[in-house]
Amino acid sequence: MQPSDNAPVLSLHVVLARDPLAQLAWRAASEAGRFLADERPDALTIEAKSSPTDVVTVMDRTAEALLIDRLLGARPDDGLLGEEGGERPGTSGIRWVVDPLDGTVNYLYGLPMWGVSVAAEDSASTDGGASTARGARIGVVITPDFDEGYLAIRGVGAWHVRAGLARPLSVRTCPSAAQALVVTGFGYTPRQRAWQASIVSDLLPVVRDLRRSGAAVIDLCWLARGRTDAYFEHGLNLWDVAAGALIAAEAGADVSGGPGTDRFLLVAVPGIAAELSGILDALHDRHGWKAPPRPEAGG
Ligand code: IPD
Ligand code: CA
Ligand code: CA
Repeated sequence: MQPSDNAPVLSLHVVLARDPLAQLAWRAASEAGRFLADERPDALTIEAKSSPTDVVTVMDRTAEALLIDRLLGARPDDGLLGEEGGERPGTSGIRWVVDPLDGTVNYLYGLPMWGVSVAAEDSASTDGGASTARGARIGVVITPDFDEGYLAIRGVGAWHVRAGLARPLSVRTCPSAAQALVVTGFGYTPRQRAWQASIVSDLLPVVRDLRRSGAAVIDLCWLARGRTDAYFEHGLNLWDVAAGALIAAEAGADVSGGPGTDRFLLVAVPGIAAELSGILDALHDRHGWKAPPRPEAGG
C-alpha cells in the first residue's frame, strides 16, 4: 500500500484490532521493552559473542526468554527464530523472528538508540524456507528510551505510536543520491569492518552525508518516518531487520536484498533506490563483495 499524507491518526487499539498477531506482538515487545528500560542494572556483565566487540548481556537473554514465553505461551504451535535462543520449528505456519535487544552496544553505553524487534512471518513471507520480497506479515519495534514504537501490518500500513496514538508513516522524497542522507551499519569482525570501511570511504564523497546509529531497528524506523533517505548494510541477520524492513516497506520505501538472499540489504526512498543500488553494485564490483557466513542463532 502507498502511504498517504492524509491518512488519519488512529487509536493504537483500532490498528491492533486489524490482526490478532499484531496485538500479541505489540504486547510482548512492549513488555520486553519495559523490562529492559526499568530493570537495567548500573553495572552490566557482558559476554563476547562473534568477536570481543560483539557483546551480549544477561538483559538480552532475559528479554528473549520473556518474548518466547509470551509469544509461544499464547501460540504454542508457532515457530520462532531468536538471536539469543536459536530456532524452534512450528506447525501453525507462523514463525516469530525476534531480536530482544537491537543496539546492545548503545544500551551498554546509555545511548537511547536501541529497541525490541518482533516480526511474524507467514507462508507468504517465506517460500520453501527462503525469504520472499513480500516480507513479514507483522513488524513491531519498541524504542523505550524514546517512549515510542512502530508497527506495520503487511498490505495495510505502518504507524509511529506514542501515547496510545498511531500516526501513519510515510517516507520522505529525495531526487538524487547526491542529495541523500544515507545510513549504514557495521558488523563485528575486524575483517568485515575493514571491507565495510572501503565501501563507506568511496560512498561518502558522492552522497549528502552518512550516519551510523548503532541499531538496525532505529535505522529502518527512522527512514520509515522520513528522517533519512536510505539505509544499507552488509552481513545482517534476519532478526535485525525482519520487523524494521516491513515497517519501512509499508511506509513506502523500496526494500531490496536482505538476510534471506545474500545478506546485503538496501532500503531507500523510491526516488533514489535505483541510482543508489547502481552505485553500491559498482562498489561491490570494485571491492569484491562476498556475503559473510551466516552465524548460528545464539552465537
Ligand atoms: C547490531 C545493530 C547494528 C548493526 C549490526 C547488528 P545487535 O545488532 O543492529 O546497528 O550494524 O549489524 O548486529 O548486536 O545490537 O543486536
Ligand atoms: Ca541486532
Ligand atoms: Ca541483539
